[in-house]
Amino acid sequence: MCGVRTIDWADGAIEIIDQTRLPEACVTLRLTTVDELIDAIRRLAVRGAPALGVAGALGVALAGGDRALIARLRAARPTAVNLAWGVDRAAAHLDEGPEAVLAAALRVRDEDLAACAAMGERGADLLEGDRLRVMTVCNTGGLAAVERGTALSVVQTLHERGRLEEAYALETRPLLQGARLTTWELARMGAPHRLVVDSAGPYLVSRGGVDAVLIGADRVAANGDTANKIGSYALALAAERAGVPFVVVAPESTIDAATPTGDHIEIEDRGPEEVLTLRGVRLAPEGTRALNPAFDVTPHDLITAIVTEKRVIRP
Ligand code: MRU
Repeated sequence: MCGVRTIDWADGAIEIIDQTRLPEACVTLRLTTVDELIDAIRRLAVRGAPALGVAGALGVALAGGDRALIARLRAARPTAVNLAWGVDRAAAHLDEGPEAVLAAALRVRDEDLAACAAMGERGADLLEGDRLRVMTVCNTGGLAAVERGTALSVVQTLHERGRLEEAYALETRPLLQGARLTTWELARMGAPHRLVVDSAGPYLVSRGGVDAVLIGADRVAANGDTANKIGSYALALAAERAGVPFVVVAPESTIDAATPTGDHIEIEDRGPEEVLTLRGVRLAPEGTRALNPAFDVTPHDLITAIVTEKRVIRP
């Protein structure tokens, strides 16, 4: 059965909703070792930048002080800086003993709850208009955080305020986080929504069918360039051309002052199999080669605003 939380700590283990099984089945996994956690992160059973931050922090509590294991966890996925940030937050307390490590990890979890609520309010305040049609890519909802997400938290707040005309979720090939997860969350919140193929996103923006594009981020560089799910850049270009606000919603923990520009962000390459097959069915002829960058970079001059739990940044 699915709990309310995407990720939590229970009786000495990490519990996650297995996102590879949604929407068909809502299954909770109990992870008792760092190796199990690394495997869950790599196959996207737990995913999304804020959730990865919490996973990293709680993972240190599982590691028993094994620094090599902690280093492997920190590098399990490269693009979302939250993973390394969460690991570092908890690992800073290793010398104080396991209770201090766990307390620090639980603070990361609890801060996410407050941050996501604040981003939802601030993002909804920022947008103008009574009835908004908003487009989003990938999944930035509660499944990407602990209970409530980033960009999808703004959508949820708009809906709660009676200001959401409709949300458009891009499918998000190849792993379909939009089709499988975002639609599932929008339905659970009772928000009007439709599913859109990825390549129709920029078209709908260009034809005046969208009032705002709301996306999350896996890393914000010091100059305001942001990395997010592949397809975000095309939406940003379309939004700029159409004069539509392009708003990035991300917690402060996603801002990485040590990365000067988007050119310095490592983009995860997830290998060809995810492109060549769909849920076990081969799509392309044997021998076809594929490229599979999981993220792209949106330059800061295409971003209308970055909304965090503390401020609105206009890059
Ligand atoms: O590969 P994923 O599913 O982890 O990618 C997630 C995204 O791109 C999200 O938009 C990002 O992490 C922000 S989540 C609030």
